Amino acid sequence: MTIHIGAVPGAIAETVLMPGDPYRARWAAETFLEGAELVNEVRGMLGFTGTWRGNRVTIQGSGMGMPSLSIYANELIRDYDAQTLIRIGSCGGMQPHVSVRDVIIAMSASTITSPSSGIFREVNFAPTADYTLLAAAVSAAEAKGTPTHVGGIYSSDVFYAERPDLDEQMVRHGILGVEMEAAELYTLAARYNRRALAVLTVSDHLQTGEALPAEDREKSFGDMVEIALEAAFA
Ligand code: HPA
Repeated sequence: MTIHIGAVPGAIAETVLMPGDPYRARWAAETFLEGAELVNEVRGMLGFTGTWRGNRVTIQGSGMGMPSLSIYANELIRDYDAQTLIRIGSCGGMQPHVSVRDVIIAMSASTITSPSSGIFREVNFAPTADYTLLAAAVSAAEAKGTPTHVGGIYSSDVFYAERPDLDEQMVRHGILGVEMEAAELYTLAARYNRRALAVLTVSDHLQTGEALPAEDREKSFGDMVEIALEAAFA
């Protein structure tokens, strides 16, 4: 047990999928895992461990934003020895060729700041996905025929942004989408020599204003979960 995760030692798998939303963790565990068991409910941040095609997997909510994800990822890595951590979540589309429901596989995650910024001082560290996971996720997405984009994303500290000029620069520099967690996950994975990836579903679009209707979310999010699982065990 850690401060924020109540799982007993050994109850967390080496491979952890991390949705922001704890209810999405429950939905994904019930939908995709065999024999899923609740392993954490501290603060309602649900975590489940089960198997997928015979492989042990934990699906643990991260909460929203890098400070929250940082707490869970630190404890999963340092106390439970998680080796492969894949964020599954939603993002806002930032390019005209990116549509709602598409999947984005994040090669890098730019930030203004993250919980790790303090240790880098003057360095702008470039948080980067694990290449083996990235390549496997791209193959899985191609095999499924899911419309998928691979490239840079932006991990923001705010959902309600007040800097249209910043969005403009992100768009101008080819950033595919905006979310709030991946950069810190990639940085922690680099620090502890673990594998990390973010597989995201575009749930809304900053330019078109289009948003995924609630009833469409499950199917769209399902492709993302399967891509993440296939990448983890490729
Ligand atoms: N901004 C930040 N995070 C997000 C968004 C967004 O527009 N959509 C989904 N996650």
